[in-house]
Amino acid sequence: MRVVIAADHGGYTLKNAVVAHLRAAGHEVVDLGTHDGASCDYPPLAHDVAGRVVRGEADRGVLVCGTGQGMAIAANKVPGVRAAVVADTFSAEMAAAHNDARILCLGER
Ligand code: RB5
Repeated sequence: MRVVIAADHGGYTLKNAVVAHLRAAGHEVVDLGTHDGASCDYPPLAHDVAGRVVRGEADRGVLVCGTGQGMAIAANKVPGVRAAVVADTFSAEMAAAHNDARILCLGER
């Protein structure tokens, strides 16, 4: 699966762990950053990931911030995107199967 991923400073550490996990599982991952722990704005990153998923450049997107909420709100402003904040595997499965979500939003904090 082709996965595009991004995080702000609030999700930087978890994002790196998810990237490593996905690559170890054999997925193709495009990591848009952030690439250090310095403070940065999350909306441009969310829009970048959302756009790539909508255009079919990636099969799935992952966005990480402190709570996942800001990333989801920003990503869902892009027409055609369904991004969902989930914190458990059942919600993740249902968001994809019943809500056609293609972007997973996670909170590191
Ligand atoms: C950054 O401090 C924090 O506000 C951000 O990561 C996110 O939680 C916003 O929804």
